[in-house]
Amino acid sequence: MTQTVFVLNGPNLNLLGLREPEIYGTQTLDDIAGMLEDRARELDIEIDVRQSNHEGHLVDWMHEAQAVGAKAVLLNAGAYTHTSVALHDAIKSIRTPVIEVHLSNPHTREAFRHKSYVGMAAKGTIAGFGATSYLLALEAAAKL
Ligand code: DQA
Repeated sequence: MTQTVFVLNGPNLNLLGLREPEIYGTQTLDDIAGMLEDRARELDIEIDVRQSNHEGHLVDWMHEAQAVGAKAVLLNAGAYTHTSVALHDAIKSIRTPVIEVHLSNPHTREAFRHKSYVGMAAKGTIAGFGATSYLLALEAAAKL
């Protein structure tokens, strides 16, 4: 049976391509989704890519990932990474492995980005490789 990997994206990631391209690159979230679809097909995995600017949607979707038996969640929680105890708790509340993803490397940026509530609960983190971070995370998910 083909397994599904959820790819959950948080606030402002709907503006990828337009938003601070010198930091986040010029690819849109749709471009990234297309790239992931291509690789997922080769890996015989289904992907379900979603984006929301609302913290609670991300929590609900993580619960859903577990309820439908998803293989893994790739989570770029955007700024909620650095603020959200609710996302931290949601990751701990499910058995589905969660891989933290970032386009940029938050550790080389402002001090307020150095703390990750997501990373403290996630299986692992891939950050700093632009859109390729998502591809690397998908490769990792496929091997879990
Ligand atoms: C980000 C890094 C976060 O610090 C920031 O708030 C984002 C994007 C990234 O993918 O590099 O929104 O998660």
